Order: sequence, then structure tokens, then C-alpha cells
Amino acid sequence: MNKECIRNILSEGKVSSKIMISGWVRTRRDSKDFSFIEINDGSCLKNLQVIADQDIPGYEENVLQANTGASIEVIGEICESQGKGQKVEIKAKKIKLLGDCPADYPLQKKRHTNEFLRTISHLRPRTNTFGAAFRVRHAASYAIHKFFNDNGFINLHSPIITASDCEGAGQMFRVTALDIENLPKKEGKVDFSKDFFGEETSLTVSGQLEAEIFATAFSKVYTFGPTFRAENSNTTRHLAEFWMIEPEMAFCDLSGNMDVAEKFIKYVIDYVLTNCAEDMDFFNKWYEKGIIQKLQSIRKAKFARITYKEAIEALEKSGKDFEYPVSWGIDLQTEHERYLTEEYAKKPVFVTNYPKEIKAFYMRLDEGEETVSAMDLLVPRLGEIIGGSQREEREDVLRQRIIDNDLSEKDYAWYLELRKYGSVPHAGFGLGFERLIMYLTGVSNIRDVIPFPRTPGNARI
Ligand code: 4AD
Ligand code: MG
Repeated sequence: MNKECIRNILSEGKVSSKIMISGWVRTRRDSKDFSFIEINDGSCLKNLQVIADQDIPGYEENVLQANTGASIEVIGEICESQGKGQKVEIKAKKIKLLGDCPADYPLQKKRHTNEFLRTISHLRPRTNTFGAAFRVRHAASYAIHKFFNDNGFINLHSPIITASDCEGAGQMFRVTALDIENLPKKEGKVDFSKDFFGEETSLTVSGQLEAEIFATAFSKVYTFGPTFRAENSNTTRHLAEFWMIEPEMAFCDLSGNMDVAEKFIKYVIDYVLTNCAEDMDFFNKWYEKGIIQKLQSIRKAKFARITYKEAIEALEKSGKDFEYPVSWGIDLQTEHERYLTEEYAKKPVFVTNYPKEIKAFYMRLDEGEETVSAMDLLVPRLGEIIGGSQREEREDVLRQRIIDNDLSEKDYAWYLELRKYGSVPHAGFGLGFERLIMYLTGVSNIRDVIPFPRTPGNARI
């Protein structure tokens, strides 16, 4: 007997073949002579309908106890369905109740809010929304690896514990094995030389610096891993633990970097639209009407490219009453980013060449020395989805940037050596994976596209 997943049965199940399936009961209806059971096993959005005659063995102890949420195993035959909505159904020969489910199971028929579902993160994967979101997340993850593999990139597993602060922004979670009740002290300060690694360490905010090392050996590399930021921003777009994809390319400049980013985003959109049609229909219906069509048109559009200077001019001319006033030198806020992509460019837009004061030390200094070769990709609904740059490859300029940013030359000695030994122009970017999933699905809170969100005050499950 073939054990099959529901997706395969619904898409290619042959009438009158005998099969075995298992899953969780979504609903059960009993009539006088038989019961209809809707089962879901997570392989697709749709449920499979099972018809159980009351004369099958163990009907009372198994079928009549198979309440919403219970897990069951069914042996039966594929039949043409008489009802609407599905081509095939299963006529059961035998049903075994594996785990029953009492009436206080929270996921009964009623549709819950995503806020409520966050309070039961151990059960929410069994809902339609989370089923669809995590199948899309899986498909996008696969597509990302495939894109880079097919384009000659090597995947690099960058470290999670680190002694360097990539973004130089000091928003790091400390990692220590010291007894915090009894910290070793030296001259009034904590003596980290006594700690596990012999120095201060943290969870990484980005794998970029390590990716730069590998790019100067393999030419094209990418990381895809968890990153951590202790920024206390309780917004719908920030997590304390999120997944980032960071390609890094030697022999590449800012414009080549944007070409790769654009091709990459379009590839993932394409892959998800083709391979997650049923789940995307769900999001199109319940989350963001027209999202499929919007993504299809973005795939065909050429992304806009404007400089920060042009962005500031556009914002000043917009006539909008922004909460944060606009002038040269400001860090763009979400309201500014959204105006630029939704109303000014009306499509995804790269903003380039930001003032050096608001960007990280490693970005390449432009001629005139006021701006750096940065690029952010802004998309409708979200604002920034990608941040990247061409890197400073000139040793003397980089050293000065490190000093000007009050960072320690000693800490970055190895980073400077990459510029001493066979330095090359190189560039890369970081894509926030959860922001990408929000962009693809229309789900508006980042907590609902990651299995177990870590946000201020929340890290249990
Ligand atoms: O712009 P960021 O900070 O860039 C970097 O970390 C660079 N080292 C990347 C590189 O050049 N290799 O972050 C990159 C992206 C952002 O555009 C955003 O999509 C996402 O990471 N991101 C977050 N996503 C969720 N929660 C947070 N707290 C995020 N912070 C950044
Ligand atoms: Mg950024």
C-alpha cells in the first residue's frame, strides 16, 4: 500500500488506487449512515475529504472520536468526488484514531485573528494562514539557494558568535559564559579576558565581513543565516532574530550589485508564483487583493534607480506633510521610503549614494567624499527590503573611515589586510528574508512570517 501525501493525491491520484494517508482532522460531519472527514497533512492548503461508512470496523471508537484537531490514519480507495470543490475523495476501509483531541482545542472552525494566534505559536502552524506562509517561506528559501547555485555562487556558513560588530552600530546581543552574579573585574570594568573566548563576544548582526573574506577567494559567495539585533524597535517590520541572505561579489561595482539584486528578486518572485499557486491564491483572496498581478507586473518592470540627492529633492517637492521633516543628511524613514516607491517611482526603487555619516564605515567613499556607494532597495508596503553597497577596497581610505567612526584599527586589522593583499573592487547586499516573505504574501506583520518570532519581551516559543 502506498503512503501518500494529500497534495499528491489531489493533484495526481488515480481513481480506484488503494492508498494510506495520515493527517489532522479539520472538520467532521456525521449523517445517519456515514461521516465526512476533512483531513489536512500540511502538504497543501486544501483538505482531503474522506467518507467513512458506519459499517467500517471500529467506526464508533475511531471515526466518531475523530474530532477537529485529532490525528488519524486512513486506509481506503481513491474515488471520483460527487461533491463540489474537489475532483477526488477517499472512501475509507479502515480509520485509526492516533491522537484524540478534546473540545478545548483552540482551532475550531471560527477564524482567529493573527494576534490571537501569536499567543498559541505551538498550534498556529496548523492553520491555513500559517500553512500557506510557511510553504511559501520554504519555496522562497529553496529558490534563493537555487538562484545562487545556478549563477556560480558558493554558499558560506558565516559564524553566529563573533567578536566584531559588522554594522558598527552597537546593537548586539552579548554572548558570555561568565557568572553574571559574580563578574570578574579589572580596574572597575568587567574583565572579559576571563570569559570563554578571552574577549567580548556577541551574536552576529551580519555575515558580511566573513563573506568579504570568502569573496576574495571564491569570487562569488553568499550567506543565508540567522542574524541578531538588539534594537528596541517594536514595529511590524523588525525582529530581534531574523534571517538574512548576503551575497558578496569580487570584481563588482555598485551598478553590478544592483543588477544582481534585481535579477535575484525577480527570480524568487517567479519561482514562488509558479510553484506556490494555490497558497498565493489564498493570500490574493484573504491578505492583499491583487498581489499576484502586482508581483507579475514587478517581474516585468525595470526597477527605478535614483540617488539619495534625487530622493531628497523628490520628497521636498512632494508637498506631503511627513512626520519626520526632510532635508539633506536625514536617514530616510519608512514614510519617506514608502512615498518614493509607492508614489514617486510606482515600483521598486534603488536609492544610491547616501551621505557617509548615515551609512556604515565599510561603504566605498564616492568622489567628493560626501557620499558613499550605498544602495537600498525600497518596495511598496514595506520600504527597505535590501541594504548593500560597493565596499571600500582602498586600504588607506578604509583605515581613515575606521578611525573617523571611532572603531578600533586593531579589531579590524584582518579586514584591512584584505585590502593589502590582492585587494579588488567588490560589492554585496543583504536581503531580510522575513521582509521578502511579507512582500511576497501581503502578510503585514513580520511576526507572522517567521516560525517563532523574537521581539522585545518575547522569546519563549
Ligand atoms: O541594511 P542592513 O542593516 O545591512 C546589513 O546588515 C549589511 N551588512 C548587508 C550587506 O551589505 N551584506 O540589513 C539588511 C536587510 C535590511 O534591508 C532589511 O531587509 C533586513 O536586513 N533587516 C531586518 N529585518 C528584520 N528585522 C530587523 N531588525 C532587520 N534589520 C535589517
Ligand atoms: Mg539598511
